[in-house]
Amino acid sequence: MQEKLEFLRREALEALEAAKSSEQLEELRVRFLGRKGELTAILKQMGSLSAEERPKMGALANDVRGFIEKELEVRGKALAEEALARKLESERVDVTLPGSHRELGHKHPMTSLLDEVKEIFIGMGFEIIDGPEVETTFYNFTALNTPENHPSREPQDTFYFSPDVLLRTQTSAMQARYMETHKPPFRIIAPGRTYRKDEVDATHSPMFHQIEGLVVDKGIKFTDLKGTLDMLFKKIYGEDTRIRFRPHHFPFTEPSAEMDLQCFNCHGEGCRMCHGEGWIEMLGCGMVHPNVLRICGIDPDEYSGFAFGLGTDRMAMWRYGVSDMRLFFDNDMRFLTQF
Ligand code: DAH
Repeated sequence: MQEKLEFLRREALEALEAAKSSEQLEELRVRFLGRKGELTAILKQMGSLSAEERPKMGALANDVRGFIEKELEVRGKALAEEALARKLESERVDVTLPGSHRELGHKHPMTSLLDEVKEIFIGMGFEIIDGPEVETTFYNFTALNTPENHPSREPQDTFYFSPDVLLRTQTSAMQARYMETHKPPFRIIAPGRTYRKDEVDATHSPMFHQIEGLVVDKGIKFTDLKGTLDMLFKKIYGEDTRIRFRPHHFPFTEPSAEMDLQCFNCHGEGCRMCHGEGWIEMLGCGMVHPNVLRICGIDPDEYSGFAFGLGTDRMAMWRYGVSDMRLFFDNDMRFLTQF
């Protein structure tokens, strides 16, 4: 039995020294010291020993157990240190190496312009509202005092889903939607996408952006409209910006006007940018037609208002000196990263 115990001691030492991980150590602990382990197996034979031999073998067995336990501990520590050293080595960071660079995105120029315009209107006490792009002919035309035979209703200009449902051709559709459910006074802008059957070219796209403006209160006059738009364009294009109004016709405003911006490139002289005109057409506007107010349940004898509809794609073209509208929609990074 003494031999068996000494053999076990040597065998255990060898196995422990060869162990490569704490998992292997644990397996060895079970194998040598576990309840069904090799030491236990030897001790089971104690019964066959004589009375003098038994305590001696008992002491030796305890010594072997102690030895193996000690070795397990020593080897365990060594393995843990090795593992830590390996981890530190593999995770070493050289802080002097150049960092890994991540490209930051930024807003699309159209979005930047829209944000800029929104800020200006918020500063003037306007609320920003949103509306559906799929509209009914009622809100897009009828509620806006547009006669049944008006050319803007023509199917060759408009995307119809059915005789009563279409892709809105103008953000003006939001005027009636809003007025139906809100009592004056209010000042709103409604930015969004609009659609018309236009061929794609440098200045046309079947999908384009507008910002609708609508103010209704007691005593609103054309000068309020002028002052508001003057402020807007001065903020965007600079203090020396000039605007002018030309009489026009829209079914939903009376009187109606188109507003031009003096060409900021030539200051009215006429150049390539403004096609020699000196002025650039920017938007349609006017005083809300009494019929529109009436259709929306607002008394035109008590309230008046102004409205305007501004095409922001063209505005962005002027703002950023872009000569072809298609560039805004092409998603070409070489173009977009310039802004
Ligand atoms: N909706 C018109 C268009 O798309 C623009 C417009 C003109 C809007 C006059 C208005 C307005 O609100 O009062 O051509």
